[in-house]
Amino acid sequence: MSIPVRKKRISVPDIRARKGGEPLVCLTAYTAPIASILDERVDVLLVGDSLGMVVYGMDDTLAVTLDMMIAHGRAVTRAAKTAFIVIDLPFGSYEASPEQAFHNAARVMAETGCQAVKLEGGVEMAETIAFLTARGVPVMAHIGLMPQSFNTTGGFRAQGLSDETAAQIEADGAAVDKAGAFSVVVEGTSEPVARRLTENLSIPTIGIGASPACDGQILVTDDVLGLFSSFKPRFVKRYGEIGDAVAAAVDAYAEDVQARKFPTLDHCYGVKKGA
Ligand code: KIV
Repeated sequence: MSIPVRKKRISVPDIRARKGGEPLVCLTAYTAPIASILDERVDVLLVGDSLGMVVYGMDDTLAVTLDMMIAHGRAVTRAAKTAFIVIDLPFGSYEASPEQAFHNAARVMAETGCQAVKLEGGVEMAETIAFLTARGVPVMAHIGLMPQSFNTTGGFRAQGLSDETAAQIEADGAAVDKAGAFSVVVEGTSEPVARRLTENLSIPTIGIGASPACDGQILVTDDVLGLFSSFKPRFVKRYGEIGDAVAAAVDAYAEDVQARKFPTLDHCYGVKKGA
C-alpha cells in the first residue's frame, strides 16, 4: 500500500471535518522512533498516559506525572511532522479546577508544541473543557471507561451495559460536545451506546472497545504490534508480533557473542584490510 504524502500538519478543523466521513486512524506514540514511523501513516498520534503501564511497567496510570508526559510529548513532537499530536493530562493535573487544568495544559502545549490535550471526564469536566477551549487549548474528551477513575468504578470494566449507565455516558457525550471538545474518545463502552453517541454528537467519536460505527478508531500501538503482553483486552487486534521478533533477534545476538562470532574484525577499528 502506498502512503499518500501529506505536506501540512493535520489541524483541529481537519479532524472536525471528518465527522461522518473517512474514519480517523489514531494510535499512541511515546517515543521518537515509533512516532517517526507512524507519522505519515496515521491521522492522530496520542501520547497517552497508558505509557505508565506500557513503558514504565506500572499497574495503572495514576502515578504518571506531568513531567513524564512532557518528556515523552517532546520526543513525539520532535519526530512527527504532519500527524495531529494530542497529549494526555495525567491524573491529578486537571481535576481540581479549570484554572489548574489551564495552567497544566498550557505548560504541556508550550513545552511540547503538541496540538491538543486529552482529559478524562464527561458532565463533571464540561466547565473545564469550556474554560480551556475558550483560552486556546483544544480538548479531546475521553468518556466511557476512564482508566484514571478505576478506583471509583471498580476496575477496568466495560461501561454503559445498564440503562442507567448508558444514559450517563450519553449525557457525558452531549456535555463535552456542548462544552467545545473537538472530538471524544469513547472507551470500553457498550456498542449500541457508542453507536448512538456517534449518531447524536456533532464531533467525531474515536472508539477503543466501542463500535465500528465510530468516526475513528484508536489502539495502543504496543498492543497492535505485539510488544505489550502483560494482558490483551478483548478489543485489541494484533497486527504484528514484534515482541517475538525482538526475542529472536536477541537470542541470535547472544548466541553469536557466546560463540565469539560477533564482533568480527569488520566491526573493529584500526584493523588493516586483509590482515
Ligand atoms: O492513555 C491512552 O493510551 C489512552 C487511549 C487508550 C485512548 O487514553
